[in-house]
Amino acid sequence: MKKLILQRLKEADTFISGETLCKELGVTRSAIWKNIKSLKGQGYEIESVQNKGYRLRSTPDILNTQEILDGLTTEFMGKTIYSFDTLDSTNDVAKEYANNNCPDGTIIIAEQQKNGKGRLGRSWTSSPYQNITFSIVLRPNLAPHQLSIITLIIGLAVCKAIRSISKCDAMIKWPNDIIIGNKKICGILTEISAEAEQINYIVCGIGINVNCSFSFEDIAYKSTSLFMETQRVYKRKRIVQVLLAEIEKVYLDYMNSPTAVLEEYKKYCVSLGKVVSAQQRKEPISGVAIDISDGGELIIESETKQLFTIFSGEVSVQNIY
Ligand code: BTN
Repeated sequence: MKKLILQRLKEADTFISGETLCKELGVTRSAIWKNIKSLKGQGYEIESVQNKGYRLRSTPDILNTQEILDGLTTEFMGKTIYSFDTLDSTNDVAKEYANNNCPDGTIIIAEQQKNGKGRLGRSWTSSPYQNITFSIVLRPNLAPHQLSIITLIIGLAVCKAIRSISKCDAMIKWPNDIIIGNKKICGILTEISAEAEQINYIVCGIGINVNCSFSFEDIAYKSTSLFMETQRVYKRKRIVQVLLAEIEKVYLDYMNSPTAVLEEYKKYCVSLGKVVSAQQRKEPISGVAIDISDGGELIIESETKQLFTIFSGEVSVQNIY
């Protein structure tokens, strides 16, 4: 009922009388009033004027299914949404939905995570109600060895979306940390379920620092947010919508023309041309990152001109967090 009332208020440009709502939805005035009260409690600003009825003045920035779907322009990305207030980790819940055959492009989003996971066994902490934490289930028709490339293209999509929303010069630190200046603004954790020849599904978890700030003593030296970069507070649901549209576009572009998308990734990859260090078979290596292979691996040339191909793991870039 609440959903229907909200939908009608959104559709209407002006006031709708209580009587009209009662007739259209087949309920009593008191039922309408109770639901309006509950919507107000959720942060919807609804004006009520005698003899005129109700008018929606503004919607809150909450990341629930209805708010995200309303204004989403994609074909399949994010068309099925499971939204939660609190979860341990959206990636873990996404894997459960994926095992139960949820459609390609399903997203699981939470206002807060109690046990957010980062890459390489780290944790991911994010201020509740200020940032964005969600996971997408993808079912690409690809072989498992192509996972790395999917990881990169999602990074490219997020980087482009952040650029278009904030006008900041976001860049990608290989494989898919998104940075502004020399600080991280977004992390992506990709997990896979696969058979020998075929990917069953990929879960791609994305954490973006949006309206939070970090204190200097805290982790200010290595993390940033859109708010810290631009002094603006962002509507997070709009960012999710723009992100999903960009991810869908880059994902489909990659299926049609992998080379072009990889070239675009390279344009935004801050690691290329820089002195980097990594580990290969537990041995430290360093050199200049000179290219990215068609499979998404980073190619490093050492001082002695030896070439190393890095598949995954941590690659630090001089002067970046
Ligand atoms: C990293 O940079 O280490 C990756 C961080 C990924 C964090 C996101 S937040 C949403 C999703 N759920 C998780 O538990 N982790 C990812």
